[in-house]
Amino acid sequence: MLRLFKILAVAVVALLVLAQFFPPVRTNPPVNPVATFEAVAKPSQEVVSIVKRACYDCHSNLTVWPWYSRVAPVSWLIAEDVTDGRARLNFSQWNLLSQEAAKQRLTGACEEVRDGEMPLWQYRLMHPEARLTEQDVTALCNVVSPGDTPR
Ligand code: HEC
Repeated sequence: MLRLFKILAVAVVALLVLAQFFPPVRTNPPVNPVATFEAVAKPSQEVVSIVKRACYDCHSNLTVWPWYSRVAPVSWLIAEDVTDGRARLNFSQWNLLSQEAAKQRLTGACEEVRDGEMPLWQYRLMHPEARLTEQDVTALCNVVSPGDTPR
């Protein structure tokens, strides 16, 4: 039994070591300052600071990659969240959106934060500063529907 356990432990360590040789691609594409959400939609400073604090790591090209984003297999999960997040909503490329599409993104953002789906729970765990207050949620939702209050 002990022998089996030792073999398993060695196998797990070997796999983890091997995994480090396959780092994911971690990019921060250049940001054109006139193309951003701040520049195009001109939201309040409060809203800008909320999305910077809680959303930018996955929904902009200004991702701050933490040290553990270099350690497989966590690195793969984080890189995937960023790729997926940017593909759906990228505050650094707001100029690419039609007015309708921009509104849709913001309505989606309001719904996601109101339901506590965003930022992702695992991100909130590692980034306590990204947890949103009811006031933050109201401010974000007010961008699309002023006067609307959280459920
Ligand atoms: C840790 C990374 C991460 C953070 C931080 C994060 N998101 Fe996301 N977001 C994702 C991923 C991954 C998806 C796509 C998968 C999903 O919907 O769960 C997504 C999807 C979305 C979508 C689109 C859903 C759709 O159906 O296309 C919206 C809107 C959104 N996020 C808003 C936000 C807002 C607003 C914040 C900040 C308050 C935020 N997210 C913070 C990773 C993140």
